[in-house]
Amino acid sequence: MRFDVISLFPDMFAVVRDLGVTGRAHGQGLWNLQAWNPRDFTHDAHRTVDDRPYGGGPGMVMMAAPLAAAVQAARARRAADALEPAPVILLSPTGRRFDQPRAQSLAASAGAVLICGRYEGVDQRFIDRHVDEELSLGDFVMSGGELAAMAIVDATVRLLPGVLNDDESAIQDSFNPALSGLLDSPHYTRPEIYEGEAVPAPLLSGHHANIARWRREQSLRLTAERRPDLIQRAREQGWLTPQDERFLKTLGPGA
Ligand SMILES: C[S@@+](CC[C@H](N)C(=O)[O-])C[C@H]1O[C@@H](n2cnc3c(N)ncnc32)[C@H](O)[C@@H]1O
Repeated sequence: MRFDVISLFPDMFAVVRDLGVTGRAHGQGLWNLQAWNPRDFTHDAHRTVDDRPYGGGPGMVMMAAPLAAAVQAARARRAADALEPAPVILLSPTGRRFDQPRAQSLAASAGAVLICGRYEGVDQRFIDRHVDEELSLGDFVMSGGELAAMAIVDATVRLLPGVLNDDESAIQDSFNPALSGLLDSPHYTRPEIYEGEAVPAPLLSGHHANIARWRREQSLRLTAERRPDLIQRAREQGWLTPQDERFLKTLGPGA
């Protein structure tokens, strides 16, 4: 799998390439990162990549031509390296919200070309011609697409086979199908008593079925409280057992 990132700040990607889980996986050759700077695809002395917006208004807009040339270079290199064609994804607050199912589908693919916007955004004609998909990290605006691209890379790479060891397994994480798409349950570690508060008794019981049931109920409780939409989805998918439904009833109306 390879991510090609098109960014005016390619050095930012050292964070996912060199550090933590994704850095270790990169070192093991489980994924690859190739950065492309649109400035390297300009033809003027100032290496101009942005200009003022037509119609006036504040800020600058990223020009189509350097971005298009960078995408073309990334695509050509991917083809030369015998990688399957990959979608060109623009990070944008106006895109569809990135989520765990999209991370899973990316993890099952050859990767993507990620375009990081800056300034007020990107010339629409570039988007119309070259972008297959727009993804947002959430309903807030950052200064650039790099952090969003890194979030997507991280969420995807940790799902690749061999990246996480058993202790770090993604299977029990929030939104995972193995957890019926629910939120994760709370976690505890030593000491057994911290500032007078003990670890919940079921976790100390050594009884695997009781521990699993306690965790399931905590997941259900938390999800019903914070993300009722995920309970609804799990129900629609047939992921909730009669025992889950009985527990949800004890939480009161609405759960
Ligand atoms: C300052 S923002 C531009 C915001 C744009 N004018 C708007 O209001 O939608 C600059 C760049 O940061 C990136 N960006 C900002 N917020 C983002 C988010 N929530 N998700 C993904 N990318 C984001 C995009 O690449 C965007 O082109």
